[in-house]
Amino acid sequence: MSKMEESEKISEDFIHLARIALSDRQQDVHAFLHRIAKRTEDPSLASALVELLRKRPTRSSTLRRSPTVALPVDTDSRFQLLRQEERPVLPHEPIYADAVQDMLRRLVEERMRLEALTHAGLEPTRTVLFTGPPGVGKTMAARWIARELDRPLLILDLSAVMSSYLGRTGTNLRYVLDYAKSIDCVLLVDELDAIAKRRDDAAEIGELKRLVTVLLQQLDDWPSSGLLLAATNHAELLDPAVWRRFEEQVAFGLPDREAVRAFVNSLLELVEPNAREWSDVLSLALSGQSFSDIERKVNSARRSAALNGTSISDHLATLLSVNDRPKNERIELAVQLAESGIASQRRAHELTGVARETIRDRLRSKGF
Ligand SMILES: Nc1ncnc2c1ncn2[C@@H]1O[C@H](COP(=O)(O)OP(=O)(O)OP(=O)(O)O)[C@@H](O)[C@H]1O
Ligand SMILES: [Mg+2]
Repeated sequence: MSKMEESEKISEDFIHLARIALSDRQQDVHAFLHRIAKRTEDPSLASALVELLRKRPTRSSTLRRSPTVALPVDTDSRFQLLRQEERPVLPHEPIYADAVQDMLRRLVEERMRLEALTHAGLEPTRTVLFTGPPGVGKTMAARWIARELDRPLLILDLSAVMSSYLGRTGTNLRYVLDYAKSIDCVLLVDELDAIAKRRDDAAEIGELKRLVTVLLQQLDDWPSSGLLLAATNHAELLDPAVWRRFEEQVAFGLPDREAVRAFVNSLLELVEPNAREWSDVLSLALSGQSFSDIERKVNSARRSAALNGTSISDHLATLLSVNDRPKNERIELAVQLAESGIASQRRAHELTGVARETIRDRLRSKGF
């Protein structure tokens, strides 16, 4: 490199460093300094940087409880292997079926009243598997538990870690799990089924086997001071040996009608005068959908209303009468609204666009 090029490179690096430092991205500053330390041909610069980095672990790397340990990163890419939420925040309180809620409360209580267990010669539950379709509150449950226990939540997204670094995933996984074991936290291993999905070539199968072995060992050895949660949408893809290792399993389901009603009401009660009616109507119209889909639809209606200066009701109505709902489904919905007493026949007609005569005829044929 000529002197000129070298000085340009230094300016470029300096500007980049200034940019990330000024935008408060400490983690990136650390990663960048690591890279410089590795790349530079000046040994005194390299050792000065390494020394500084050693003395000042990243701020987001926790640590309230363990100030000297840095969050694990992939050694070559510096890709961050874990996401850490120091104090998990929930957008709103979750709604769960009774059995799920009871189990989540139990897990928290076991930790809060540890002496009661220890006294009886027992340990708290260490490993729990969350199963269920997307958008029903599995990740939220991990946040909820961490918040209740006032511990940081560490999230390891297995599919992200595996997608680009399969060759090193075993090492990375061990690294991450060792780190999580060393601090007082709740660990969520998200998308656990990723471990079972990539079966495309023989080299990968070997690596996957090693991964499963690492995971099984760690599950067996997990200390009772920690809580390891894992979540999957595809429990059926998991090796039964993995399943069996978890001490408890919690099956999250799609919300029932009552849960949809309560959820829609909580989303609308402060912003829509007819929140109650809409909660009833949407509990029928959106049944079978996940919490996150329902939330997305209600929020989209709210956005449209805010932008157009119209009422939220107008936009919620499009959820019922839009053309992508097949005609027979719309008729069925109109009949159910009238039949259950949620809406009069006229209101059911207004909401769904189905002719009043059709609604009346259907109800008559059902003996109303
Ligand atoms: N049980 C619930 N009660 C209230 N809100 C919920 C519930 N489940 C999901 N939500 C809403 O949907 C969002 C997404 O939920 P979450 O990320 O917990 O789903 P998940 O089950 O982990 O889905 P995935 O399998 O796709 O990771 C939450 O942030 C929340 O706003
Ligand atoms: Mg999730």
